[in-house]
Amino acid sequence: MFITFEGPDGSGKSTIIKKVYEKLINDGFDIVLTREPGGTPIAEKIRDIILDNSNVALDARTEALLYAASRRQHLVEKIRPALKEGKIVLCDRFLDSSLAYQGGGRNLGVQNVLNINLFATENTYPDLTLFFDIDPELGLKRVSQDKKRVADRLDNENENFHEKVYSTFKEIVNSNSQRIITIDASKSIEEVTECAYKTIKEKLNGLH
Ligand code: TYD
Repeated sequence: MFITFEGPDGSGKSTIIKKVYEKLINDGFDIVLTREPGGTPIAEKIRDIILDNSNVALDARTEALLYAASRRQHLVEKIRPALKEGKIVLCDRFLDSSLAYQGGGRNLGVQNVLNINLFATENTYPDLTLFFDIDPELGLKRVSQDKKRVADRLDNENENFHEKVYSTFKEIVNSNSQRIITIDASKSIEEVTECAYKTIKEKLNGLH
């Protein structure tokens, strides 16, 4: 089972994925927790290029290709082997982030970005995706209040960019209702964690 967590910046999904991971481990499941961009040494090197604030000249298509390249490496080195061993893979961001950020935010078009990703992943889709729904303005407020967080190249984009990312996410959610479940991320961390955990347990128990 391949499960991804998606959402705008500041949706809290990175905190929640760790909590859900621990709960599932306590239940006795064999799980791998990973993230994108990154997840393996080569993919993390690509991540550093993408998120480096000094890379102001990085072209939008180059950015989309780098995310796809990093995803490819991550898939081959880590995700596929784990799934083959029968493990559950929880991944912080995957394909849908590229569709929303590069396809929508960077205006490259969702279909174009989907095409390069289907090439990169040989048509790999998650079995289940949780979309952590938060108003982008509130998300950005949370990011700026988080003193531990150093703003990266994407965080530093303007509000218009983040609005476009959000509206594209919503379109993707609406057209993939079989795969993507929306979680209200405006609630407390405890409530959102519980909701995400319950949704995953139901899927693991074959309830949806
Ligand atoms: P990260 O620090 O992992 O952010 P977060 O904790 O919010 O998930 O940085 C990842 C950034 O990269 C984030 O702003 C979203 C962006 N991103 C894309 O633009 N495209 C992608 O395909 C992925 C995976 C991430």
